[in-house]
Amino acid sequence: MVNKASKNKMWGGRFSSDSSKLLQNVNSSIEFDYRLFEVDVEASIAHTQMLSHCKIITKKDSLSIIAGLKRIKIKFKKGNFKLSKELEDIHMNIESALSKDIGDTAGRVHTARSRNDQVATDLRLYIRRKNFEIIDEISLLQKALASKAEDNYKTIMPGYTHMQTAQPITMGHHLLAYVEMLSRDKGRMIDCNKRLNESPLGSGALSGTSFPINRKMTSKALGFNNPMRNSLDAVSSRDFVLETMSSIAICSVHLSRLAEEIILWLSDGFNFIELPDNLTTGSSIMPQKKNPDLAELVRGKSGRLIGSLITMLIVMKGLPMAYSKDLQEDKEPTFDALDNILLCLQSMSSMIENMVPNIKNMNEAASRQFSTATDLADWLVQNLNIPFRSAHKITGEIVSLCIEKNITLDEIDLEILKKFDERITKDIFNILNAEKSVIRKTSEGGTSPKNVKRAAGLWLKRLKDEK
Ligand code: ARG
Repeated sequence: MVNKASKNKMWGGRFSSDSSKLLQNVNSSIEFDYRLFEVDVEASIAHTQMLSHCKIITKKDSLSIIAGLKRIKIKFKKGNFKLSKELEDIHMNIESALSKDIGDTAGRVHTARSRNDQVATDLRLYIRRKNFEIIDEISLLQKALASKAEDNYKTIMPGYTHMQTAQPITMGHHLLAYVEMLSRDKGRMIDCNKRLNESPLGSGALSGTSFPINRKMTSKALGFNNPMRNSLDAVSSRDFVLETMSSIAICSVHLSRLAEEIILWLSDGFNFIELPDNLTTGSSIMPQKKNPDLAELVRGKSGRLIGSLITMLIVMKGLPMAYSKDLQEDKEPTFDALDNILLCLQSMSSMIENMVPNIKNMNEAASRQFSTATDLADWLVQNLNIPFRSAHKITGEIVSLCIEKNITLDEIDLEILKKFDERITKDIFNILNAEKSVIRKTSEGGTSPKNVKRAAGLWLKRLKDEK
């Protein structure tokens, strides 16, 4: 026998020396891919059962491999599994542990399989599971928002455009806007799971295998819809990661917008809501401070989640067929994104559930800045049959006069209004406050309390029926 000096049991055959420490450090992924432990064992069991069914290995060997894998799983769960950096990644760590447990038979588990189809399979299984967790958390946040909206279906607040007071709206309406956004986020996550649910297992390193395997069997056992049709695509594509990351990034942008509003609403200038002490933080120097760190972190983390997507897009963009080790760089941003979107969703649910609106402050703010000027213009159109553009002009002049006199729209004299159009009657004052304004916004999708109450009820029912 030729004397080779590499001690690497997995691929040492053609090597005369061991990997340098530097290579080991760069190459090793066990520090993060240990998370694939459970799915890797599941996929190995499915693969082993198939090998035995197809008579590629004996039933006896398959039973021994499966029993060994199950013992290793228990060890891992108890925290007794020692992860070794020299063994590079989770796949080699598990195979090596199996070989310590059952001897040389362990070497048969990797028949008709490569780490390339193995890792692609594991990652799909892992992301599928996490995506379902994300979907559930989105539903919980939607429920929190919809029930806060139901409680506040007639709470009036200012609606803004350009961050300037625009028209009065109901707080329920504002919160339900996020329920809608989140429902599309959920749709995207569900969609990701539909498309990623195909099995790469059995694609081998890149070209398939000469063993008479049954890929439909492993695909079915692992809950996939079908085996992937092209082995090169199966081992080298990560668009399922990109799709998940982009859906997460979009969702995080929605959460960041809501976080920004919570931060504004809590600030002194707005004073629209209160959050309980256990969801806010103090300052190490200013004893009076109560800071919205939780909301700020949700806003900040969206930067990190968008970054994860960009990282992965850039990792992928220059990769020729088929597998390259660059693909190992998919894991850290993926795991980080999956963890952090869950944290953001949970943080947001607890802030929404526990926030208490300062109804009086919101109402006052909604009445400032001539927020009912559009209602006045609409009244002129509806009652005097003036074209809207002319009504807009007249209203603008009335507003300008009010600014001059430092009064609100409903404080103006009827006699002065009549100078603009003598047909104006005192009826006009019935629509010039915030409450009247929102009550009249009954068009489909509009902010009227009646609409909002119905929409919140429908959402709560829909979310309840989802389960
Ligand atoms: N740890 C590797 C990864 O995450 C597993 C696949 C290794 N394949 C290889 N040909 N070296 O991508």
